[in-house]
Amino acid sequence: MKSFSLPIKWKLTLWYGGILALILVAFCGFVYTYFQNSLQKSIDTKIKSIAEVLSSSMTETHGQSLFGNFERYLENALGKKPKGKFIQIIDASGKIGARLNDLEAEAVPVSFVTLEKALKGEVVYETIETARPRLRMITMPILENKKVISIVQVGSSLEEFEDTMKRLLIIMIVSIITATGGTIIVGYFMAKKTMRPVDQIRRAAVKISSSNLDERIELKGRKDELGRLADTFNAMIARLKDSFQRVNQFSIDVSHELKTPLTILKGETELALRKDRTNEEYKKSLESNLEEIDRMSHIIDDLLLLSKAETKDMRLNLDKVDLRDLLADVCLNMKIFGENKGVEIIAKELEDIRIVGDALKLRRMITNIVENGIKYGHAGGYVAVSACKQDGFACINVKDDGPGISSDDIKYIFDRFYRADKSRKRESGSGLGLSISKWIAEAHHGTIEVESTPSTGSLFIIKLPMS
Ligand SMILES: Nc1ncnc2c1ncn2[C@@H]1O[C@H](COP(=O)(O)OP(=O)(O)OP(=O)(O)O)[C@@H](O)[C@H]1O
Ligand SMILES: [Mg+2]
Repeated sequence: MKSFSLPIKWKLTLWYGGILALILVAFCGFVYTYFQNSLQKSIDTKIKSIAEVLSSSMTETHGQSLFGNFERYLENALGKKPKGKFIQIIDASGKIGARLNDLEAEAVPVSFVTLEKALKGEVVYETIETARPRLRMITMPILENKKVISIVQVGSSLEEFEDTMKRLLIIMIVSIITATGGTIIVGYFMAKKTMRPVDQIRRAAVKISSSNLDERIELKGRKDELGRLADTFNAMIARLKDSFQRVNQFSIDVSHELKTPLTILKGETELALRKDRTNEEYKKSLESNLEEIDRMSHIIDDLLLLSKAETKDMRLNLDKVDLRDLLADVCLNMKIFGENKGVEIIAKELEDIRIVGDALKLRRMITNIVENGIKYGHAGGYVAVSACKQDGFACINVKDDGPGISSDDIKYIFDRFYRADKSRKRESGSGLGLSISKWIAEAHHGTIEVESTPSTGSLFIIKLPMS
């Protein structure tokens, strides 16, 4: 079963919304509690100050003037008529001496526990939940000679306070819902806009196949991470396209290279079979076939070597190599081939150079290049091989006075199957010699370069590190 995964744009939006809601709830909770405590404290201060004024005025008059006109007495004592308050004086025996009730609530219950505490001289603050509206009440004993002569109770309605807190709560809830909702809506559209290029990349990736590597992601002018991702993706597709093209070209070249000797093989064999032939004729035909088979097996060997080199399957058998000996040996081996073509091999200025390398592969590289010099040279020409030490490198030069290589061809001669002179194709070879030589030089962390002037000659320069 395909498991469901929430799209990133939704995940982002919900995370933003959720975190904002949490922060707002915590912040509003703090503000609400702080506000509630401050309001309660100010109510407590108010009722305490009334109770204190009454207490001191009662002490002065020994409670005598209270029982006349309580309202006027309060007005005198407090300087104004107390509004929204409940005030009562209880004598030491628990009898209510005077009371002012400016509240809508009728009976205000008096708790015996509170009275008992007050009689012991304790000031008690309490919230009377049973009264309607709820009351905040202070019960304060009035002392004379350290004796409780009466108790004053001042209560204040909590109606206004509750109204304020309720309104604050509503404002906060509406703000939290609006802010979170707004963040979710705006966040969703922003996340959707941000994630759009990712979707474009996904759709482009779906369309890409080996036959369609022209697809590119267009993120006009974006320089951010997604823009860079698209650029990287485009560069990857371009590289893939290049690789596919090279593989295709390679297959075409290989087929072409093998097709020619196969066609010749087939033609020669058919010709030989057309009528009865003498032993001599059969021998000639078989020799010609063997030549083509040799050519094919040579191509296949070279291809195998290059494929191995490309897949990094090829390892160098590193050992100490005496370059002077190796170069002299190659020149000696090529001497007969040179003589057959009328090309002289000159091995001069061979310095004593020792490097670490794969002797067999190095021999193959030098042979390829000297062989080219002979193969493409003219009778009476030469191929000169020299070697010297230069800036920590062993520098091998192979110079000839052959036809040279044109500037158009020179950039491609190290490519596989490239032959500068197509008309000489059959004699020239498969066009793999220099690609193999280049790989061998690079595998030794060296370089191979060519300088050439058409009709004057060519100079191949190989540089190999000495340590
Ligand atoms: N010394 C040279 N002078 C003139 N042209 C050269 C010389 N060396 C190489 N070339 C040109 O470069 C091409 C590539 O050489 P490369 O050695 O890779 O292939 P090849 O000699 O044709 O075949 P292979 O070496 O595989 O038998 C040659 O076909 C030839 O046209
Ligand atoms: Mg060659």
